[in-house]
Amino acid sequence: MTSTAIAHPNIALVKYWGKRDEELILPATGSLSLTLDVFPTTTTIELTGEKDDVVILDGAHLSGSESARVITVLDLVRELSGRDERARVTSTNTVPTAAGLASSAAAFAALAVAAAHSYELDADARTLSRLARRGSGSASRSVFGGLARWNAGVDDETSFAEPLEWRGPELAMVIAVVSSARKSVSSRNAMRRTVETSPYFPAWVESNAVLLDRMSEAVTTGDFTAMGELTEQSALRMHASMFGAVPPVRYLTASSVALFDAVAALRDSGVEAYATADAGPNVKTLCRASDADSVVARLSDAMPSVEYVVAHSGRGARIAAEEVA
Ligand code: ADP
Ligand code: DP6
Ligand code: CO
Repeated sequence: MTSTAIAHPNIALVKYWGKRDEELILPATGSLSLTLDVFPTTTTIELTGEKDDVVILDGAHLSGSESARVITVLDLVRELSGRDERARVTSTNTVPTAAGLASSAAAFAALAVAAAHSYELDADARTLSRLARRGSGSASRSVFGGLARWNAGVDDETSFAEPLEWRGPELAMVIAVVSSARKSVSSRNAMRRTVETSPYFPAWVESNAVLLDRMSEAVTTGDFTAMGELTEQSALRMHASMFGAVPPVRYLTASSVALFDAVAALRDSGVEAYATADAGPNVKTLCRASDADSVVARLSDAMPSVEYVVAHSGRGARIAAEEVA
């Protein structure tokens, strides 16, 4: 059986940063995100008679910890399905890999869906979210389209994402691609360093849990202004926790900070726009879909050297095609 799945990156409005369990990938707090309609990852799995799994990303064989993450998810699917064939995993990203644009989220959501399908595991969406989580925490949310909340949970069974209904205005994310280069420290290692060395980490955990409750309320009531304000707060508090690590983790560059300023200036002029950034220098601006063109125009004036991509709410991970070999 050959199975192909597609998934999109998601951008967290309330961030996930820090694990309470590294092996199970249980987060220190819950998080909430928007799955995008741009930059899909396509992953094909073919079961083989070989001795080992093979993982190919954009034409290159992965090894070490990069293939190990993929094999972790394959092993879990094999255990649940009671099968033991090895797999050949071939994946293509359209998003820059490891640049803070959520390649790991799209990757492991696509992998979970493709693997469950190949091994004929009858997995519901919650199980798929839990499987995706074991590859990359943020991937638990890309199983779903639109807004999704990853409930931190207390163990493997209770830590999964679920879709949320949004009654507010149609949303857009204007992605400013400041750099598509690979980050020098992976999200996983930067997060671990923050947990282990930043004196601000406990305050981050405490405050982000409050932001998540408020964000959940804003989603329920369709309150776009509250959503935007909470989005900026969660992002800046996450980066503040990283600044406190030893050695510090600093993904934001001068261009990133200039973009946060440009977004604040947009707000002063009456366009409701709110900035967020992940483990990389790229800035995403949350706005109403109806304002996206003017946001791009205004940010391009402020920062002409940067490439802008407009994203909207996208679909969850799904099977793209199948053929029985
Ligand atoms: P990002 O900001 O892109 O999510 P991370 O540091 O979280 O960056 O994760 C990047 C890592 O995710 C890559 O180094 C690789 O190990 C893994 N990854 C990304 N895309 C894929 C893919 N399509 N298939 C398998 N692994 C992937
Ligand atoms: C800043 O999910 O990439 O994008 O679980 O170690 O794979 P691992 O980390 P990852 O971390 C994402 C961090 C973030 C915020 C977010 O997406 O919530
Ligand atoms: Co990631």
